Amino acid sequence: MPSSNSKYFVVFSFFSFFLICLTQADPIYSSHACTDSLTYKPKTTFETNLNLLLSSLPSKASGGSHFYRTRTGDAAPDAVNGLFLCRGDTLAAACRECVSAAAGEIKRRCPDQKEAIIWYDTCMVRYSNQSFNKIVPSTDLSNTEDVAPEDKERFNEVLSGMLNSAAAKVLKSQNKFATEQVNFTTTETLYGLEQCTPDLTVSDCNTCLRSAIAAVPNCCDGKRGSTVLLPACNIRYEFYPFFSSTPPAPVSHSHP
Ligand SMILES: *[C@@H]1O[C@H](CO)[C@@H](O)[C@H](O)[C@H]1NC(C)=O
Ligand SMILES: *[C@@H]1O[C@H](CO)[C@@H](O)[C@H](O)[C@H]1NC(C)=O
Repeated sequence: MPSSNSKYFVVFSFFSFFLICLTQADPIYSSHACTDSLTYKPKTTFETNLNLLLSSLPSKASGGSHFYRTRTGDAAPDAVNGLFLCRGDTLAAACRECVSAAAGEIKRRCPDQKEAIIWYDTCMVRYSNQSFNKIVPSTDLSNTEDVAPEDKERFNEVLSGMLNSAAAKVLKSQNKFATEQVNFTTTETLYGLEQCTPDLTVSDCNTCLRSAIAAVPNCCDGKRGSTVLLPACNIRYEFYPFFSSTPPAPVSHSHP
């Protein structure tokens, strides 16, 4: 992550227009999780259904929808549930590009598992033979350098305030997505992004965001940038603007 993050930063700083091109052409893989205890055999109806489901997802992203959930196959044990979630600031073409990459890559990373999830920087794809609420949440975190020791106490306060304020915005938003930014020093700004899958209730979204925020001190204490990925929500903060400041989604009033 640090190298792709710094590549992003440089590109964003000098040519923010090209960042959009970069994210469309080149979605960046973040992490994945396969449920190794649930496997299927090749050339079964389950695999056929899974392939159909994965290949159908990218076209559903073309219409500008950031979230889509579906099921292929009539009944257990061959039916597959699947969904994608694009980051709330992605344009339709970038969302489709990311979902397409993720849907292909999930099959390579988890070649015979009945349940899997893959995260890219701008989208997530997951599928399971079970309903999604049975998936055990998995967390992944990407860290960069530490804040200076003398800044740490204030950093933790500012960060916590920002993460809570972003969560409050997500809960009030229509699409369960929000960004936030706060000045840390006169020259440094802290940027945050939080998102739930839009099918969650406000209460479940809040529960998910709370557990993501609660993970930060354990995983990433004093880190200058972190990402917490859960199946139903994710949060990220950085000292650089890693999201588009003019999201196509209804939540465009995110900078007070
Ligand atoms: C999912 O697959 C596992 C492993 O094959 C099986 O035990 C379980 O019953 C399946 N669940 C459903 C809802 O089909
Ligand atoms: C943050 O810094 C910018 C630029 O220095 C300034 O315009 C803005 O008012 C500051 N925002 C807050 C909330 O202090």
